[in-house]
Amino acid sequence: MAEALTEVEAANRLMRLAKEIARHDKLYHDRDAPEISDAEYDALVRENRELEAQFPQLVRADSPSKRLGAAPTTALAKVAHARPMLSLDNAFSGDEVTEFVARVKRFLALPPDASVAFTAEPKIDGLSCSVRYERGQLVLGATRGDGTTGEDVTANVRTIADIPQRIEAAPDILEVRGEVYMSKADFEALNERQEASGGKIFANPRNAAAGSLRQKDPGITAARPLRFLAHGWGEMSEPLADTQYEAMKRIEGFGIPVTDLLVRCDRIEEMLAHYRAIEKARADLPFDIDGVVYKVDRLDLQERLGFVARAPRWGLAHKFPAEKAETTLKAIDIQVGRTGKLTPVGRLTPVGVGGVIVANVTLHNRDEIERLGLRIGDRVRIQRAGDVIPQVVENLTRDEPRLPYVFPDHCPECGSEAVAEEGEVDVRCTGGLICPAQRFERLRHFVSRGALDIEGLGEKSIAEFIELGWLNSPADIFRLHQHRGELLGREGWKEKSADNLFAAIEAKRQPDGPRFLFGLGIRHVGIVTAKDLFKCFGTIEELRRVALSEGGEAELSSVQGVGTVVAEALHGFFHEKHNREVLDDLLYEVSPQPFVSDAKQTKWSGKTIVFTGSLETMSRDEAKAQAERLGARAAGSVSPKTDLVVAGAGAGSKLKKAEELGIRVINEAEWAKIVAEA
Ligand code: IVH
Repeated sequence: MAEALTEVEAANRLMRLAKEIARHDKLYHDRDAPEISDAEYDALVRENRELEAQFPQLVRADSPSKRLGAAPTTALAKVAHARPMLSLDNAFSGDEVTEFVARVKRFLALPPDASVAFTAEPKIDGLSCSVRYERGQLVLGATRGDGTTGEDVTANVRTIADIPQRIEAAPDILEVRGEVYMSKADFEALNERQEASGGKIFANPRNAAAGSLRQKDPGITAARPLRFLAHGWGEMSEPLADTQYEAMKRIEGFGIPVTDLLVRCDRIEEMLAHYRAIEKARADLPFDIDGVVYKVDRLDLQERLGFVARAPRWGLAHKFPAEKAETTLKAIDIQVGRTGKLTPVGRLTPVGVGGVIVANVTLHNRDEIERLGLRIGDRVRIQRAGDVIPQVVENLTRDEPRLPYVFPDHCPECGSEAVAEEGEVDVRCTGGLICPAQRFERLRHFVSRGALDIEGLGEKSIAEFIELGWLNSPADIFRLHQHRGELLGREGWKEKSADNLFAAIEAKRQPDGPRFLFGLGIRHVGIVTAKDLFKCFGTIEELRRVALSEGGEAELSSVQGVGTVVAEALHGFFHEKHNREVLDDLLYEVSPQPFVSDAKQTKWSGKTIVFTGSLETMSRDEAKAQAERLGARAAGSVSPKTDLVVAGAGAGSKLKKAEELGIRVINEAEWAKIVAEA
């Protein structure tokens, strides 16, 4: 095709290709919403390369070949999950399990003595993985990632013998979810082989499984003994069964392993008895587990219960108690975090706790050191619970005379004064952005995977650019290209690596709004809160306007998922002139995307609904959750902005007000019909 073009036509075509490829890069990397297949994309890149070979004089400054070339991507390709991969809430005691069961019944508006069946099964300490079959053929394997987007590990999953390549008589679409893990025996043997060959030694079977699955080269995965146990499913073209238990049996029937420790329980006593039985069997099981998972058995009830943030209301992980060990505290170091917080870290004589060597523990804050009476040289008891950072639970040498530890009153990084504000336990450096640790941590957070996710701007480069004076605030990231010439003169930087970095930065000029807000590092504003805030205010400018307005703090704290602590933090952040300047500067460089709701688009999207009176077939919480699923907002009081009032028995003043304002009022049965039809 290329030889048929004249020079002018080739120039035009190259211009179009540059724009097209850049657009597809953006769709793929920023939005995870590609419009074309990988093969179609590759064809565009190939066409561009061939034309450039033929007309070298026409190679454009913004040519995709300069950005992409044959540059090997270090990361695995991303893949959006058809249905989110959720996590579970944790419980650590029988009482919390009892409370969970009661909560489920309350939500379903069932009496406390009603019987609700649950399944119980081990919580496998592996790596969450989704395997998708289309018409019986394995087509995709994906890691959990952030729950919405994972990594494509299809080629690697195909090397796992537990996972069939094809399934007879499966639904057209079948997404099985479970844990990829390595058995304890295989883990020991792998580490021995690694040691003999001078390879990487893994800390535990979970890390070994993760390291083996997330490989660019499936040959490496194939050589590692990975296993799989299913515990659920994602997208399905038809329901597998009416209950969790039966659905898992069907998955087992497809030839995919399911634990034989899965049982159905009708009463809490049975759930707790199974927990104890599994705990007793734990040491003899061939794989690591860290608790027991309970799930509401009836799938129609699971559907009604839905989920909050990232965890289903119908499931719970009942964790085993932490494992403990004794060792010596050799030193206390102070780390300065992104918010200036001074965190003491205990350095220990390394000791094994539950299969992991622990050499460091967080000591949390000044009060915690005082509470434990810690001094250098003390014997301490430490504990490690699941993936929680190890901590000191007891000082075993309290009465020996030793010099007390004195907590610093100056920042070890910049020498500024370090103080604890009234009523606060945390000691913070007052240096702000002049403190290199804070600057570094803030920038690192801003570009991190959960925030802007700028690939290639790692810790080393951030440190280097701060040192050179090129990076002071996040906006400077988007001006780094001005230093291209100087950068190329530096060791370790070549045209390709520099341009890859600039391309990765350019790709984030229109970041996802919530990720951008999260990236600002405002205290207490995690990604879930950032999403809640965006859901309500739509843009960062509107959020700022509200935070700075009179009564803004109260308005903020009334947002779903936002309380007074977050509201105060936002108020504090936006009232600080320096922060406003940093943000203005940043908004000059980038345009965060307004929030797009992932709730169903229905005619109720954006509407405000008020529930009043007593509902009979569901709890108030379930009704609110239903409204949210339709994209509507459930409000507590009737105002002219209310679009619909659902009135149960005995509705009083709110009903009256709605009638006065001429707002549409319906009963519970009519509401149920709306939900069913949406
Ligand atoms: S159910 C919607 N069952 O634990 C809930 N998860 O802490 C989906 N896990 O991401 C999870 N064993 O990777 C479930 N028997 C089990 C599990 C299990 C291990 C993992 C899973 C999940 C994490 C949540």
